[in-house]
Amino acid sequence: MKSLKEEIDMTRLPGHIAIIMDGNGRWAKKRLLPRKLGHKAGADTLEEITKAADALGVKHLTVYAFSTENWKRSQEEISGIMDLLRNYLDRYIAKADKENIKIDIIGEKSRLDEDIQEKIKLIESLSAEKPGLNLHIALNYGGRDDILRGFKKIAARIENGEIKAEDITEEMISESLDTGFYPDPELVIRTSGEERISNFLLWQIAYSEFVFNKKLWPDYKPEDLYEDICYYQNRERRFGGR
Ligand code: FPP
Repeated sequence: MKSLKEEIDMTRLPGHIAIIMDGNGRWAKKRLLPRKLGHKAGADTLEEITKAADALGVKHLTVYAFSTENWKRSQEEISGIMDLLRNYLDRYIAKADKENIKIDIIGEKSRLDEDIQEKIKLIESLSAEKPGLNLHIALNYGGRDDILRGFKKIAARIENGEIKAEDITEEMISESLDTGFYPDPELVIRTSGEERISNFLLWQIAYSEFVFNKKLWPDYKPEDLYEDICYYQNRERRFGGR
């Protein structure tokens, strides 16, 4: 029997997969552990899934690590997630010469602690020339905030006389977003059984396929990714046509 990985049609591999990594809290609760250990397990899963997606040949992976709404969580939980991020960035920086993947951050970075902003700059420059998968980590990211910031960039161009309102095109709007330099996701995966978009990439998902996987994010394994890709490939994308 073929393995799930062998079932994947490599000629139709999604070039961009976006993931809402949900269920860390429930994973910890089931084990009577503090929520921060759920996020720690979630960060380990992120590394494993990034490696698996890179090995498959996926070009772009966008992951929702911290939303604009997540600031409403307890200070303890927010610090826990930020410390995981620091640790993740430090580990990449330490072994950057051996790494294959390229990392960048989408979202509004100015609200992040200064030291995190510095690490982000360093990691983006250290990884810029890497040949492998592009990992886009969404931090302090909100789809509406992304569109709002994009609107302001376009409005500024109108204000300084560079363009007229009637010159605005869909491409211009796409390019004004944080994701402007890479293609829209073909596939969006959300774990933990929740079926919501939670203000993730709003403009960019116009034609995306969705897979809602019941596994909690820390339990999500490369086999689950292969299965979700197969499930996506067995659907037909019509883009509104016939
Ligand atoms: C959703 O689970 C998850 C988050 C809000 C945070 C996701 C963060 C990580 C996976 C770690 C990020 C680390 C790095 C290195 C970028 P939840 O807490 O909403 O889970 P619940 O719905 O079960 O409570």
